[in-house]
Amino acid sequence: MRSGRASRAAAPLGLGGGALYAAPMLRVIRYSALALLVAVGGLWGLAWFQHEPGQSVGEAFAQRLAQVFGHDVAAPAAMAGVQLPVGITLGGAFSLTRQDGAAVTERDYAGRWLLVYFGFTYCPDVCPTELGRMADVIDALGAAGERVTPIFITIDPERDGVEQLADYVSRFHPRMQGMTGTAQQIGEVARRYRVYYARAQNHQMTEYLMDHSSFIYLVGPDGRVRTLFRPDTAVEGMSRAISAHLRSLTSS
Ligand code: NI
Repeated sequence: MRSGRASRAAAPLGLGGGALYAAPMLRVIRYSALALLVAVGGLWGLAWFQHEPGQSVGEAFAQRLAQVFGHDVAAPAAMAGVQLPVGITLGGAFSLTRQDGAAVTERDYAGRWLLVYFGFTYCPDVCPTELGRMADVIDALGAAGERVTPIFITIDPERDGVEQLADYVSRFHPRMQGMTGTAQQIGEVARRYRVYYARAQNHQMTEYLMDHSSFIYLVGPDGRVRTLFRPDTAVEGMSRAISAHLRSLTSS
């Protein structure tokens, strides 16, 4: 965005360049323009040959362009989830305490789809936003949504006990479950999902905050993460990606 505005501002100067630039300078500009044209054409060619099935050439091109400039483009709805690199597995075993006081492990959820988010109940904005989105996605899935259990795992077990969690999750979705544990248990599950969290230092506040990564994980019936969603992923894109996963398993 920033570069786009800059080039637009520079355009009038370039167009009136006859008076402003000496001949060698004009040649440089012409060759640069040609080089840019070739580069963009090349990227389009790459996108044409390497676009994935179900992805349009335009989308593949946008993705390539974004890679070149180091930016993220908004993923098209069908590709809303982040694909895990080959060889990377997230999820797996855990041992935690549910908001109803029950001790639970991954075996209690075998065969079920989960939508998992890590955060803390004192979080002022990001966690409530993402949990609200999770609830919206479950509802948007309709009948299929009943196959997915939304789960909130605290990374602040010191303050988030079972009662605190029970009250908190009930505000978002009637079927949402909250989980806490010992510092070690939370550390273990966070490691398996590669969740970053740390206590934020702020001496002006009596209550501390937590820094934490913010992804929504779709976990398959085998306990492995199928895909993860970045913060602010649109509900429609998420529900479409999730229903595609749900269908892929029933048909295979
Ligand atoms: Ni948060």
